[in-house]
Amino acid sequence: MTPTTILVTGGAGFVGSTLALHLKRHDVARRVIALDNLKRRGSELNVPRLRDGGVEFVHGDIRCPEDLDVAETDLLLECSAEPSVLAGYDSSPQYLVNTNLLGTLNLLEHCRRRGAAIVFLSTSRVYPMAALAAIRLDETPTRFEIAGAQTLAGISARGISEEFPLSGARSLYGATKLASELFIEEYAYAYGLRAVVDRCGVLAGPWQMGKVDQGFVALWVARHLFEGRLSYIGFGGSGKQVRDVLHVDDLCDLVTRQIARLDDVAGQVFNVGGGRRVSTSLCELTELCRRVTGKTIAIDAVAETRTADVPLYVTDTARIEATLGWSPTRDLERVVVDTHDWMHAHAASLRAILS
Ligand SMILES: NC(=O)c1ccc[n+]([C@@H]2O[C@H](COP(=O)([O-])OP(=O)(O)OC[C@H]3O[C@@H](n4cnc5c(N)ncnc54)[C@H](O)[C@@H]3O)[C@@H](O)[C@H]2O)c1
Repeated sequence: MTPTTILVTGGAGFVGSTLALHLKRHDVARRVIALDNLKRRGSELNVPRLRDGGVEFVHGDIRCPEDLDVAETDLLLECSAEPSVLAGYDSSPQYLVNTNLLGTLNLLEHCRRRGAAIVFLSTSRVYPMAALAAIRLDETPTRFEIAGAQTLAGISARGISEEFPLSGARSLYGATKLASELFIEEYAYAYGLRAVVDRCGVLAGPWQMGKVDQGFVALWVARHLFEGRLSYIGFGGSGKQVRDVLHVDDLCDLVTRQIARLDDVAGQVFNVGGGRRVSTSLCELTELCRRVTGKTIAIDAVAETRTADVPLYVTDTARIEATLGWSPTRDLERVVVDTHDWMHAHAASLRAILS
């Protein structure tokens, strides 16, 4: 598929802005439009970047259908969200649901009326917390590891595949994303919507405005660079919880391929992440940040585990690799070095946001 106009919702966010600029730079479409309500602190810094890169910026809100009438788009890339897994636990879930679920319905209507296709960024958080907590783990001096023998479907030494169970509570955030996926499936069936769903694990890299409840790699790098404080929260406070990490540039390569081969991937759901090779525990990440920044900061330990925290998530990328021949090419050191170099270069504007 060669789209003429791509609308990137959440286009001033970390992923949305990086993707929009990448697609424009690689001439994937004649027009690339980024729409964002600038709710996320720091997203405003991306507006001049987008314009300099030839991406049109529109201040708009996906909760308002009329805001989406910006152009005759033929592909929509959904990157807007309240992306925190903790959202709604100590406050109302209204913004979360209105954006992540009702906003998605507005986007689907936008696509239905125009015959546009959609690439939807979902999350590994669609997988339920109890099932993730039931994965048998081994404990090494620096991390949890997936143990050899497992009882659940969809888990192996490679990580968690699309066959992993889906029933059980998954966080309010995860529920809005899974509910959106269900509506995408219905729109595909009822109206022939062409849609691909990427269930992303942790994404990281330059322009991520990391904070305590979302974007831990950027948070870790920033707190080292700007000499703040950090805590290992939960699981005894040992910092052994593990995630795989995907460099945002690897995601850009993947989405570009998916757009080019939309007919091959439409109707499919993929687990997308860095995989076992690009995984880290918090305490391993601390070591890497110390090496890259040359700074050592105090790290507190909070033994108590927060709601919605899971000890391990590693993506099994076998399905997407077999379908498109894509696999991540950037390792964790590259993620941390690129993030550090970006923060260092923009320290004056980032210090207040990221400290
Ligand atoms: N970053 C990750 O690790 C990660 C992992 C899995 C999935 N995802 C998904 O990827 C997508 C992008 O995430 P991100 O990391 O770039 O987050 P982000 O917070 O940096 O970007 C989201 C953008 O959406 C905007 N936004 C929020 N509500 C909006 C609304 N109602 N209307 C218009 N814009 C709105 C924000 O201002 C922000 O710029 C999200 O859908 C997220 O759920 C991200």
